[in-house]
Amino acid sequence: MISTMPHTKDNLLITAGPTQEPIDEVRFISNRSSGRLGVEIANAAARNGWSVTLLLGPGVLQPEDTRIRVIRFRTAADLQALLLTEFPRCRALVMAAAVADYRPKHPSPGAKLRRTDTDLQIDLEPVPDLLASCSRQRQPGQVLIGFALEPADRLRESAQDKLERKGVDAIVANPLGTMDADTIDATIFSRDHSGVSSIHWPESPKGVFADRLVRWLQEQIS
Ligand code: CTP
Repeated sequence: MISTMPHTKDNLLITAGPTQEPIDEVRFISNRSSGRLGVEIANAAARNGWSVTLLLGPGVLQPEDTRIRVIRFRTAADLQALLLTEFPRCRALVMAAAVADYRPKHPSPGAKLRRTDTDLQIDLEPVPDLLASCSRQRQPGQVLIGFALEPADRLRESAQDKLERKGVDAIVANPLGTMDADTIDATIFSRDHSGVSSIHWPESPKGVFADRLVRWLQEQIS
């Protein structure tokens, strides 16, 4: 159990789960994220006195702790709109959602694409980097933590690149196998006066990792 308690007025904003980007009324592009990691972080933070808002993507998972304010989203655009109102109110943002990088450019809401015998092409457009845009609007004192799911041999290089590119305080890097798994093998990369430092947390259940991350966050703001 974590002993350092945050200020009771501290709001923690967490995003979790996949986005679904519609192709037509019944089909979408998504990913394998279960949202479990973000839900565990929300539970750990609420247990430790944070006032938690969880922006949660599609799926059946719900946090156990009833003090957590849960708002559901489906698309990256929904999440972008929620962040616009919720991010300015938070002391820290933990961006665990697996946000789409691309989405269909011309979705057909209300319609269903028909099967034919010819190839079908769907044009995709890039989704804005939501974490980077929060970082551009940050107020002094706000802490931003992002995630990087990467092949094991590129963890360090990619995490350092994302730390810079997204302008965040920390990136939790984990290998590709973490998605939809029970455990996580995480390394947290953060900036310090001499550059970038990293801490490797040995592979553990996601609940154990969540406690570690909340403790790390509390140390940053105390
Ligand atoms: N992220 C975001 N908006 C996006 C895509 C990702 O805010 N459109 C956030 C994720 O929530 C995560 C971090 O950025 O905290 C890293 O996500 P990742 O998919 O690993 O990185 P990308 O920005 O997509 O870069 P790349 O495709 O090069 O890995």
